[in-house]
Amino acid sequence: MKLTLSNDSPSQIATECLVVPVVDAAESTNGDNGGKHLPEIQTEDKAVHDAAGDLIASEEVTGKMLETALLHKPQGLKAKRVLYIGAGKAKSFSSYELRKLAGTAVRMLKEKGLKSFAFVAPHSWKDVAAMPEVSAFHRGGVGDAVKSIAEGAYVGNFDPDYYKSDREDRKIEEIVIVTPAAASQQSLGGALEQGRIIGEAQNFARDLVNEPGNRMTPTILADRARKMSEETGLTCEIYGPDKLKELKMGAFWSVAQGSDEEPRLIVMRYEPSGAPTKPVLGLVGKGITFDSGGISIKPSDGMEKMKYDMAGGAAMVGAMRAIAQLKPNVRVIGIVCASENMPSGKAQKPGDVQIAMSGKSIEIINTDAEGRLVLADGLHYAKQLGCTHLIDAATLTGACVVALGMVNAGVFANDDEFYDRFNRSLRKSGEKMWRLPVDEEYREMIKSTIADIMNTGGRWGGAVTAAMFLKEFVGDTPWLHLDIAGVAWMEDNKPWIAKGPSGVAVRSIVEFVRELGKSN
Ligand code: BES
Ligand code: MN
Ligand code: ZN
Repeated sequence: MKLTLSNDSPSQIATECLVVPVVDAAESTNGDNGGKHLPEIQTEDKAVHDAAGDLIASEEVTGKMLETALLHKPQGLKAKRVLYIGAGKAKSFSSYELRKLAGTAVRMLKEKGLKSFAFVAPHSWKDVAAMPEVSAFHRGGVGDAVKSIAEGAYVGNFDPDYYKSDREDRKIEEIVIVTPAAASQQSLGGALEQGRIIGEAQNFARDLVNEPGNRMTPTILADRARKMSEETGLTCEIYGPDKLKELKMGAFWSVAQGSDEEPRLIVMRYEPSGAPTKPVLGLVGKGITFDSGGISIKPSDGMEKMKYDMAGGAAMVGAMRAIAQLKPNVRVIGIVCASENMPSGKAQKPGDVQIAMSGKSIEIINTDAEGRLVLADGLHYAKQLGCTHLIDAATLTGACVVALGMVNAGVFANDDEFYDRFNRSLRKSGEKMWRLPVDEEYREMIKSTIADIMNTGGRWGGAVTAAMFLKEFVGDTPWLHLDIAGVAWMEDNKPWIAKGPSGVAVRSIVEFVRELGKSN
């Protein structure tokens, strides 16, 4: 997809379709009981306002979030069509909504067979100072709008139906983003480029997650990471069973030992020469390419979904790709622990005791709690490689899905300041994550009689006890754990994003790394 900028007047742009956001500027509207809307077209172009006159009069355009009104041959416009798209309440209109609008425009118009359109960057973005505190999400200047539109457009342009023989592969090929005449085209060019890199990285991760287990084995995942690293200038090392044994990664190996597919330890390094030696951020991803549960086998209903159990690992590969292209001034090491979790005569059994790389002994209660095992060694190894800060991402627990549903990922932190910084990145990325606790009291629940710890913590607080297990392996190193089990896979199509892999965590991690680079 090609994205370009234009600062022509919207009405003067010749395009298949001109897409124009509309906010509802009414102070307190209650749509349910007939409150009045105050639709505000997000451009100063008079012809674009006039063309909406009848639609506003008939209340087909109110500014309600994701409401769409498509008009052919709009008077006074060079565009063949105009699409007014609702952005919701004016005072909470942030990059979070803007991405959705761009994604919705892409998905709606490509469905109609269009290949290109123009999107009007919202006029209210000019006025950053007026950004009220009520919005939980970020809104910057015009550059921020351009970046968000690009991100949303890329995300909307992805479809997961690869293996359909009658796949139509409808895609938008070109979008012109229309910005106010006064805006500096040069700085906007940079913002557009950032949006493209981040959106493409998210789709790169989604591509990896979308592949089924037979086409995305640990070996294949490692090959994809290697190829990406070669293309973007990262250093990439890939290790197999011998190295795992040499490093005494007993926890990681205990999961891998049951499978005929060899595990892979993937290490991607971004080490810009000008960056200070510290901090070094470690990104550790769970890369279970298929989770059958092992000997503690899962029920067959829904087991096919466990091909997405490498979404945390894919997020780290995607994030490293964007980092390599954005070139922030900070060192980052990406680690993916890739393995299948399978039952076999060689598989580990409940009751087995394993010694992790750190030396801690683990009593295996349930072989289906495998993610924490591979991450235990991945996190410890990251520290050995010199990481001073750690973030892991994993589809770790069903309990996290029970707690937060499919809206928020769980985020766990052993350091408040580190969490606060990450939380600011969440507001920028628009990804929803909710903090859950890691109080010492929970540690009781993973105590073992025979070993240092057990790999499960019983019935209650399953997302927390999984995090407590990981915490054992990070020590005092500032650490964030992202449990993305509920949000890595979308169950339904949304107007702005296809069902299937979401690519969650890529954007937030990339935003975090960019900030980290700025403070150096
Ligand atoms: N990969 C699963 C967690 C999961 C569940 C991811 C649902 C996505 C959707 C993980 O390996 C797992 O099986 N966890 C167990 C842990 C339990 C045995 C303590 C779980 O959540 O049931
Ligand atoms: Mn499992
Ligand atoms: Zn799993």
